[in-house]
Amino acid sequence: MLNWDDPLENLAKKNGQAPHVRPGMGIQDNDDLMQTAGEAPTVNPDPMAAAVSVSPIDETPQIASGLEAIEMGAKRIQVDDKKIINCRADLNQLVPFKYDWAWQKYLDGCANHWMPQEINMTADIALWKSKDGLTEDERTIIKRNLGFFSTADSLVANNLVLAVYRHITNPECRQYLLRQAFEEAVHTHAYQYVIESLAMDEGEIFNMYREVPAVAKKAEWALPFTQYLSDPNFHTGTPENDQKLLRELIAFYVVFEGIFFYVGFTQVLSMGRRNKMTGTAEQFQYILRDESMHMNFGIDVINQIKLENPHLWSDSFKQEMITMIKEAVDIETQYARDTMPRGILGLNASMFEEYLQFIANRRLSQIGLPEQYSGVNNPFPWMSEVLDLKKEKNFFETRVTEYQTGGALNWE
Ligand SMILES: [Fe+2]
Ligand SMILES: [Fe+2]
Repeated sequence: MLNWDDPLENLAKKNGQAPHVRPGMGIQDNDDLMQTAGEAPTVNPDPMAAAVSVSPIDETPQIASGLEAIEMGAKRIQVDDKKIINCRADLNQLVPFKYDWAWQKYLDGCANHWMPQEINMTADIALWKSKDGLTEDERTIIKRNLGFFSTADSLVANNLVLAVYRHITNPECRQYLLRQAFEEAVHTHAYQYVIESLAMDEGEIFNMYREVPAVAKKAEWALPFTQYLSDPNFHTGTPENDQKLLRELIAFYVVFEGIFFYVGFTQVLSMGRRNKMTGTAEQFQYILRDESMHMNFGIDVINQIKLENPHLWSDSFKQEMITMIKEAVDIETQYARDTMPRGILGLNASMFEEYLQFIANRRLSQIGLPEQYSGVNNPFPWMSEVLDLKKEKNFFETRVTEYQTGGALNWE
């Protein structure tokens, strides 16, 4: 005699079967589990459920997505069951944590929450409207960077949600990816907010990546990587496809967010340091702080994948990644030349070339590859100070940058 309180294993034993739930069939649809041995199966009146119930039962555990049917009574998840890619354990259980660094970055990201409307744009509006407030070259820098970033951040968000998320099979990493995806939405909002505040031609700015080759080039470079991963027929689980994922993560986290953003950030933050467009520069400063964390998260993910799958990190793959990063330095150097053909603000394109080589060396060593540019220094040491916002007061002296909205609630 069966009873609702019986553990499912007992019930399955009664049927002489191993306990399992068919893929795609929710636990509520438990007709076959409720029947005792020898009884005819109940016909399910729901045509969709019937279609599911006749599908073949795959006994080999598949790479988890988080959307599998619930396996009642399954063994509890242990830390060792968790894997950053190709995990077969349930992805809906956040704990026990395996990758504390991912959870910590999620908490840090939440603690740094900010919104674009909190930043005062009054001085920027007055300066942008005044005839002699800015030179044509300075205006070009602001417009080109808004053109690039306003679409680039949407591309990064789409890449996360439509390509990367599915293949990272770990709940604490996914928790950070969800936070990052929201931050990318905030960044796109920030650019839109600046464009609207300055009463710019929205069509001109948002279409730059279709109309201005220097702006289009970087997005064009990144798109093929994400297109591969977002294909519904693409699955990890073979060395070749796992390398495609790793290549894509390096392309987006190390190159796109870690190199392609840095000329624009430096140019706009330089204007802020000279007391020009300080509201816009402050928006960029918050964005840079977020981006720095995105890149560091990506580097941790890349290194964890390498650690768990050392066969992917072959000599030929390493060489390919070095070539890719060097190509990215050339593309971003060209962006510096295109956006500032003449030196302005005490900056010139060759300083950016050295800066990009300096940060590329850092990125290379962060993922365990040899530095490629010898004898280069950081021509913008103040950029490191901007990144180290925990200690620094906002250099525009508008307010302390290290404000946090993610503090504990006071219930009293
Ligand atoms: Fe972003
Ligand atoms: Fe980002």
